[in-house]
Amino acid sequence: MRVCILAFGCQMNDYDSGRIAGMLRDRGAEIVEDPKKADFVIVNTCSVRRHAEDRVLSLLGRLRAWRKRDPARRLAVVGCMAEREADSLAGRFPHVDFIVGARRIAEIGRLYDETLSGAAGGTVSPIMAIGESPMGDGTDFGRAPALRPFPHQAYIAVSRGCNKRCSYCVVPSARGPEKSRAMNDIEEEARRLAAEGVREITLLGQTIDSYGGDLGDGSSLETLLRRLYEIPGLLRLRFITNHPANCREDLFRTMAELSDRVMPFVHMPAQSGSDRILGLMRRGYTRRKYLRLLDAARKACPGIGIASDFIVGFPTESRADFEETLDLVRRAEFQSCFLFKYSPRPGTKAAEMPDDVPEAEKRIRHAELTALQAEISERLNRARIGSVEEVLVDSPSKTDARQLAGRSRSFRIVIFPGATDLIGSLVRVKIEKATALALYGRIAQ
Ligand code: 5AD
Ligand code: SF4
Repeated sequence: MRVCILAFGCQMNDYDSGRIAGMLRDRGAEIVEDPKKADFVIVNTCSVRRHAEDRVLSLLGRLRAWRKRDPARRLAVVGCMAEREADSLAGRFPHVDFIVGARRIAEIGRLYDETLSGAAGGTVSPIMAIGESPMGDGTDFGRAPALRPFPHQAYIAVSRGCNKRCSYCVVPSARGPEKSRAMNDIEEEARRLAAEGVREITLLGQTIDSYGGDLGDGSSLETLLRRLYEIPGLLRLRFITNHPANCREDLFRTMAELSDRVMPFVHMPAQSGSDRILGLMRRGYTRRKYLRLLDAARKACPGIGIASDFIVGFPTESRADFEETLDLVRRAEFQSCFLFKYSPRPGTKAAEMPDDVPEAEKRIRHAELTALQAEISERLNRARIGSVEEVLVDSPSKTDARQLAGRSRSFRIVIFPGATDLIGSLVRVKIEKATALALYGRIAQ
């Protein structure tokens, strides 16, 4: 069958999309980009904000005609929204054949086989696989995706789910409690990938600082980094995402010690700069503790890139609360930030509070914070002009095919002229120009 995977959401979802693609390709499927050319469309969904869900709903509406045109076609909805909204999706979109939750991705292979043999799908009510996997032991990590955006770069999920209870967030209800993958498994996978030519591995976990806590064998992010550090051929290790309440200063010392291979970058969402709002969000830290963590990171790893996320317009957020967020952003000097307008998610604690910041005010705060961060990103990037950055070359530049694009050690995008045979290798680039989004330069002689 020709299979098309349409994906929404975070890196964990992209990772799952890659796993699905690999799984079905192993079964002989052809992976295509255009849903119109597919016999089987898989929509991998996200529930994090209403906007992400709305896009899926409208896509499923548009796929109704496609599905009806040929009774042999199949349509699957998978991932976080499939988990949370299975019944309402089934009621609203009877043309969907399969609904598979984020914890049951491994079952898509079986459903595909049954589809091919004519044993599954094509009825008026979708086949559902949601909730805890009947295998139930948390070992369903599968292999890292065989289909990767770049052959020299790979992700490995080291934990799944989340034990935090941030009041605005759907992740725990969509992906369940946190389960770590055994360190030996991860190491084996990393060795295999390195032997296949992978040069950079990014470890994925919703709150990666707590990796290993549930294994009870002393595994931690630090011990994992030390193990992977030894793998021949791996040039770069990264990990995302950190949680400020769990992050230990030890981590930065370990990063400093292993700094030739563990890259100086952390993504550590602050969400707000107001202690009152942080309390309502149940984040488990104060702005002071957060800023202290950044100090510790910078002291241990000079030049470390720090990225963050913020939500504006959380229930009861006043102008004064928002000013504290602006102030935190000014002090923290993030390399980059992802900024979101609060979106109440059914079933979360925060959704019980009135969503009382008007949309227009959310928009103003979002724009103000965006402008401030752009100014900071540009200033920090301009400070790199004249420096030489070590860059792992990813691909031709998206905007100018004669140029190459890659990432610096601290995860900045670097664009420079060069031949495509450099893709997958490390080069030194002298920086000549900078914007808020990227550095531009030439290969250093
Ligand atoms: N509304 C707005 N943004 C949210 N995020 C998570 N939940 C919500 C929500 N209900 C943001 C957080 C998180 C990122 C992945 O999405 O900033 O870090
Ligand atoms: Fe990722 Fe959260 Fe969206 Fe699920 S809901 S895809 S975990 S961002």
